[in-house]
Amino acid sequence: MCGIFCLLSLSPAQREGDKTVHEHLKRRGPNFSQDLTVRGSNPCYQCLFSAHVLHMRGLLTPQPFQDDAGNVLLWNGEIFGGIPVRPEENDTAVVSQKLASCNSSAEILSTLSSIRGPWGFIYLQKAEDCLWFGRDFFGRRSLLWRFDPDLQALTLTSVAACSSAPDKSVWQEVPAVGVYRIDLKAAAESGSMMFEVFPWAHVENHVFSGCSEAVLESVPSGCNAVMNPAGLELTSPVCPLNRSIPEPGNEHEVHLNSCSKDLEQLLASKDKTEESDRLIDVLSEAVRRRVQSLPFRMQDSPPADDQADVAVLFSGGIDSMILAVLADRHIPAHQPIDLLNVAFKLQEPKKQKESTKKPKKHKNRQMDDKPGADSQTSSPFDVPDRKTGRAGLGELQNLSPGRRWNFVEINVTQEELQEMRQERVCHLVHPLDTVLDDSIGCAVWFAARGKGVITEDHEQRSFSSSAKVILTGIGADEQLAGYSRHRVRFKTSGYEGLIQELAMELGRISSRNLGRDDRVIGDHGKEARFPYLDEDVVSYLNSLPVLEKADLTLPRGVGEKLLLRLSARQLGLGQSAVLPKRAMQFGSRIAKMEDKHEKASDKCTRLLTG
Ligand SMILES: *[C@@H]1O[C@H](CO)[C@@H](O)[C@H](O)[C@H]1NC(C)=O
Ligand SMILES: *[C@@H]1O[C@H](CO)[C@@H](O)[C@H](O)[C@H]1NC(C)=O
Ligand SMILES: *[C@@H]1O[C@H](CO)[C@@H](O)[C@H](O)[C@H]1NC(C)=O
Ligand SMILES: *[C@@H]1O[C@H](CO)[C@@H](O)[C@H](O)[C@H]1NC(C)=O
Ligand SMILES: *[C@@H]1O[C@H](CO)[C@@H](O)[C@H](O)[C@H]1NC(C)=O
Repeated sequence: MCGIFCLLSLSPAQREGDKTVHEHLKRRGPNFSQDLTVRGSNPCYQCLFSAHVLHMRGLLTPQPFQDDAGNVLLWNGEIFGGIPVRPEENDTAVVSQKLASCNSSAEILSTLSSIRGPWGFIYLQKAEDCLWFGRDFFGRRSLLWRFDPDLQALTLTSVAACSSAPDKSVWQEVPAVGVYRIDLKAAAESGSMMFEVFPWAHVENHVFSGCSEAVLESVPSGCNAVMNPAGLELTSPVCPLNRSIPEPGNEHEVHLNSCSKDLEQLLASKDKTEESDRLIDVLSEAVRRRVQSLPFRMQDSPPADDQADVAVLFSGGIDSMILAVLADRHIPAHQPIDLLNVAFKLQEPKKQKESTKKPKKHKNRQMDDKPGADSQTSSPFDVPDRKTGRAGLGELQNLSPGRRWNFVEINVTQEELQEMRQERVCHLVHPLDTVLDDSIGCAVWFAARGKGVITEDHEQRSFSSSAKVILTGIGADEQLAGYSRHRVRFKTSGYEGLIQELAMELGRISSRNLGRDDRVIGDHGKEARFPYLDEDVVSYLNSLPVLEKADLTLPRGVGEKLLLRLSARQLGLGQSAVLPKRAMQFGSRIAKMEDKHEKASDKCTRLLTG
């Protein structure tokens, strides 16, 4: 994970980057920081590049990476496939070399299209005086932009800052709809910031799908954009979604009461387990690439045996359990794996009020949701995700008893939450701003920080996770119909509606989740990796007809994410395979801590500074 930044101005006046933004970038890349200014003359333009590198292993590759021809690359990405990167090579250098060898825009696009893995990048093509930038197909890395009309200056950055002062220009996420190119000479000559857009082909139901007008209008105000005149496109790295509608009556027939028996019966009744086996294969490979591509691993001194390289954001739910089981396959047996489990302190129940408003407000929470009963017998941090997390730990210990599993209990009090929200999280979530962004942003920030307690030999001791790579389960619910809104949609508009919903969710995951999560996790100098959004995993799931993935005629805990549950059983998981979805803001109880009458989509006033 790196922090990358570029300030492009169309006038010769010396410009400086924003100090606060600079500090936030440095936290993403604590090991090496460097600025580089490139000036173009006649007419004048100026690019101030700033790069902040997170050093994973071995030797560090300095950025901004300038080659002999004067091209400059800022690369915040990982290559997990598509372009060969030998173990002794560094991907920044490989990408730089590839891009430098391109003779045309089409070749640049073809190079970028071939990369498997997350990226955000900024690239100055010196001979052409062109600046390129953009994000990968899913938008797994953050990139923000804003334009200051007075200074005629465009800023691109991995992370920004929210300020209390009313700004003339606002930060926005660069939409993950393709890559952008600015002809710097032309821009300097005309004095106007003009982008050419090279879109991803076949972006289904993206927020901007089929609507190039919207793409062009999504640039910062004061800038202009056109589709590239040659009509060039980036090739989508995944196959399109299978939209075939199931024949009525093809649903799985199960009539037992107990979820886990349902699943067993379903497994037994399937004469083949081809799909669940295949899903395990592609997911396992996706996890392998992400736990073994510790990018700069060299014959450095091996890590101390008690220090994990890899952690999992861990609720004990099916998505994170599967990641933990698959990580166990590919991480050397002597290395621990950290399971990061976050809990927000349960408030003292306000008896009267609580019971009157509860039925309405907490409709979504159906599991063991009786804080009053809990708090008498156990700790105020025994929130639902803590309990399922502990149960999940038990399952993992049974499956892989030789492994050291560090179950990190991360307890957050209201005071600490308020302090860190103001100091850090509000800047990272920005420019997203809803109640949901606040809840998830804070929960993920504390979880990823990895500071908590672990229990060893019945003794608790404080613990700080050393893992630089954090696996998260995001993408499973979006692709396998895990959310309750999928059931709602299915009820109201059948399979057609469900398929539309699934297509839409993947299209908007960059602007809803991924940029934000990347900024939040990157703040700890750690790197988020998303196995469920591996290109091969998405392609495989996209190829399947919807009924293979989810059968919403079956009960909760079975029907949604059905295929994943079958895979979990194949992997030997027990109760965790049939847990219904519990969203992080409820499972960790952060939503409960803010005891307000607010909707997840409301603007969150707590995120405002000052
Ligand atoms: C990178 O920076 C982090 C945070 O300052 C530090 O813990 C780590 O040791 C550094 N890594 C190297 C290889 O210098
Ligand atoms: C990265 O690659 C470049 C070009 O191949 C090489 O000069 C540099 O030494 C490499 N850096 C590391 C840390 O391997
Ligand atoms: C650019 O052209 C040169 C010379 O024809 C060729 O060797 C090279 O492969 C081309 N670059 C790409 C990326 O195709
Ligand atoms: C954190 O919460 C757990 C209960 O889930 C409790 O056992 C533990 O003692 C707490 N640790 C601290 C440091 O508060
Ligand atoms: C969609 O699934 C159906 C049923 O398995 C299959 O026959 C069809 O080939 C698939 N279509 C695509 C485009 O993959």
